[in-house]
Amino acid sequence: MSGPILIFDSGIGGLSILDEIRKVIPDHDCCYLFDNARLPYGELEESELITGCVSLICEQAKQINAAIVVVACNSASTLVLPILRKQLSIPIVGVVPAIKPAAKMSKQRHIGLLATPGTIKRPYTKELIEAFAEECRVDLFGSSELVMLAEAKLAGARVDMAKLALLLGPIRESALDTLVLGCTHFPILAPEIRQVLGNHIALLDSGKAVADRVAYLLVDVRASKSKGNRDTDYRAVYTADDIALGLRSRLVEEGFTKVEPRSSTRLS
Ligand code: DGL
Repeated sequence: MSGPILIFDSGIGGLSILDEIRKVIPDHDCCYLFDNARLPYGELEESELITGCVSLICEQAKQINAAIVVVACNSASTLVLPILRKQLSIPIVGVVPAIKPAAKMSKQRHIGLLATPGTIKRPYTKELIEAFAEECRVDLFGSSELVMLAEAKLAGARVDMAKLALLLGPIRESALDTLVLGCTHFPILAPEIRQVLGNHIALLDSGKAVADRVAYLLVDVRASKSKGNRDTDYRAVYTADDIALGLRSRLVEEGFTKVEPRSSTRLS
């Protein structure tokens, strides 16, 4: 269990989780695997999402001898965690929308969940709300367009604020005081979302909780591991043939030393 942390998402959303992991574990190698060939996940059939994610993650985890897998995607975590845990013997950490802290924090007992269309309709999400937010009104908002806005932002495009305001219109009209960002792409748009919604609505995501859990699970590995003098290795692997030039430069700026298609990294 000494290899890198494998972080997985459909696109760039998992980088919001990677950022939090880096704050608590700045010196552990990371492999960021993103399934951009099939983005957005919020629109995929459940069976297609499950089969694709499980085989991708298992293959990559074995290939790099991962120490831990972080499914940095709410849409996938609502479906694949039990199957992954059966297939891999390393720890698997998923992302759960921050419904529990939001319900505790909301003064009006009125919260919202902004996630992908897939996440808001899953039984997993319904059960989470029943278990932790029973005393709150919980409004559900699903959007894949926001996912694509976040993708465009990281690839260097200016965020279309008029479009964002339109997409967030129903939230502005609601009287909720706490909004859960239940898709890992959305913290990337947090400054713009805040600009549209104003400061009276608190925004919550699960990034820090996931990072703390990873640090806890890796504590023994990290204590026994010596990297010598070499730098921490960050590599990004994607499933499509290519990525936008702007995104490639951004990943390099973020410290990724390799950004390559999965087809070129597979063992024959
Ligand atoms: N970042 C993902 C999530 O947390 C998936 C977004 C998508 O591909 O629709 O749900």
